[in-house]
Amino acid sequence: MLRSQDLAAGHHDKVAAVIVVGDDTVSSPVYDLQDADFVDIADEKCARYDFGSPQAVVFDVALSRENIAIIQSLNPVLPKKRVFSVDLKSFRARIQANSLGATALINRPIRMRELNYCIQELIGTTQRKRDRRQVEIDRSIKGAASALTSMFDGISTGAKLDVEGALRACGDIGAAIPEFGQEKWLDNIRKHHVSTFQHCLLVTSVATMFGQSLGMRRADVVALTMAGMLHDIGKATIPVALLDKPGKLTDAELKIIKSHPEVGSRYLSSTVIRPDILHAVRHHHEALDGSGYPDGLSGHQIPDMTRILTVCDIYAALIERRSYKEPLPPAAAIDVLRTLATGGKVEGALVEALASAVFDRTTASA
Ligand SMILES: [Fe+2]
Ligand SMILES: [Fe+2]
Repeated sequence: MLRSQDLAAGHHDKVAAVIVVGDDTVSSPVYDLQDADFVDIADEKCARYDFGSPQAVVFDVALSRENIAIIQSLNPVLPKKRVFSVDLKSFRARIQANSLGATALINRPIRMRELNYCIQELIGTTQRKRDRRQVEIDRSIKGAASALTSMFDGISTGAKLDVEGALRACGDIGAAIPEFGQEKWLDNIRKHHVSTFQHCLLVTSVATMFGQSLGMRRADVVALTMAGMLHDIGKATIPVALLDKPGKLTDAELKIIKSHPEVGSRYLSSTVIRPDILHAVRHHHEALDGSGYPDGLSGHQIPDMTRILTVCDIYAALIERRSYKEPLPPAAAIDVLRTLATGGKVEGALVEALASAVFDRTTASA
């Protein structure tokens, strides 16, 4: 690894793709970055440093008055592509970084996965890398879809659910969503699947994203992902023509449709599956005021995972296209959920948490 001293002494024979200007050469993980040169902003040589022609510079420094002055003085020799690590919650820090010519902002302290992704995006992801990402997304969707297929087939044929395989697929989804972004995953689902499949995959990804943004433990996120994937499995026994019926349903038809949580949970109860997943599958249509089905549970009888799944299920149903309705934009879907919360059907705090998860993601990826 080259340090500023080596560079200043002209010891560099290879131009690095990225220059990192840091103020914590001891503990910052940024010093593990591949294909990069490093310079300490406190080093007096920094001001004389010939930056050569790297493709991007990363500033991993506190934006103190002194550091801002140094960065301003370096301005003429800096590459145009500049990543600043700042406290993204601080409006002031974001403004300061932007005024110093930031082309990308990432959170400080830096997480390497985020930095690597940001740099790849900034200095031009090669087609090969793009292809690899597409393969990974396809793989996670294929895994989820095939787990879903075997579950849907299983309930019709009486075959046992492959819990291990389903958990593996859920773990893959949990890894794919933060890596590629939920939007990218959803775009791909829309291309690949239709009707109930699409709905289950949509609920799965909304639940995964929401669980991660709530800071749930990984095992709980996987369980929530699994609950999302399985929640409507009972619909596999309902004729598609009935599920897609555009007009008003008769009482008898409604009764059949409303049987799906019980049918699904009965099928799953013969497998080794976490009780909270089973509960969420059976009770995802319950309401906090006791007006839901199948058991009319209310308030504290409905645990967190079930409440979270219910909110994700409603949100997903609102933003997706069905044979009988157009999709709602995310903001309008959140408004509908807020109305349901005011009416005592779902938990208001969860709706607000989902709103910030949805809108943070949208802003962050904009
Ligand atoms: Fe359902
Ligand atoms: Fe559903």
